[in-house]
Amino acid sequence: MAIIIKTAQEIGLIRESCRRLADVFQNLEQAVKPGMSTMEINILGDQMIRKHGCIPNFLHYNGYPASICVSVNEEVVHGIPRKKRILQEGDIVSLDAGLIYKGYHSDMARTFAIGKISKATQQLIDVTRQSFFEGIKKARAGNHLHDISNNIDAYIKPYGYGIVRDLVGHGIGTKLHEDPQIPNFAQMRRGPKLRPGMTLAIEPMVNMGRADVEWLEDDWTVVTEDGSWSAHYENTILVTDGEPEILTLYEAGAIQAASGE
Ligand code: MF3
Ligand code: CO
Repeated sequence: MAIIIKTAQEIGLIRESCRRLADVFQNLEQAVKPGMSTMEINILGDQMIRKHGCIPNFLHYNGYPASICVSVNEEVVHGIPRKKRILQEGDIVSLDAGLIYKGYHSDMARTFAIGKISKATQQLIDVTRQSFFEGIKKARAGNHLHDISNNIDAYIKPYGYGIVRDLVGHGIGTKLHEDPQIPNFAQMRRGPKLRPGMTLAIEPMVNMGRADVEWLEDDWTVVTEDGSWSAHYENTILVTDGEPEILTLYEAGAIQAASGE
């Protein structure tokens, strides 16, 4: 296992890749409405990525047929967009997407509420998001990778939710998936040491019910085995000498309209 340390120049390109992806998400979030099909979301997202002069990295990845993974309710991740799958008030939808800018990948995911959702469902979304932030408190040079995993697990545990174990986060750079794998549940070993220049996609997936998942007939869509709803939250981050940098964050930051190179 080799974790690639990125050079300053590479970090600049990854940062720009992530900035453009965050802009896509910001616009997608505003566009997603009840009555929309999951295919419409995919088409919109694909267009936004290409407007930035970038390439959607999920499209054709191991044969995946779309640019945006759109997963509704009990679908955990890797939902395949469909014309006939219409979003309704009260649903939750997880969007997962990435792009390539000058050879460098970015990757992020968010779960959005469609109209008004129940308090319990909103809590699932909030806890999933917060678990990411608890995790990256440990994403500092000198700590070990699994300190992140352990923090995510420890934060979610009291809520009794199921933390998905079959899918994990990952390193990212000139490939969408690089070493290391980043589990979202407690680990026995400490894992590799974190060093400045590592770029990581950290992505807790959390189920309202049990942790078990299964794959649908399409061989892509991951659903909860018990039918409970699931949330996803992912950012690409950079390990530095100090605080980790969240490269795909847009909630707090002012992402300017892209130059469209
Ligand atoms: N976003 C996924 C990940 O974080 C990758 C999706 S691969 C695809 O690892 F083929 F489904 F697009
Ligand atoms: Co990912």
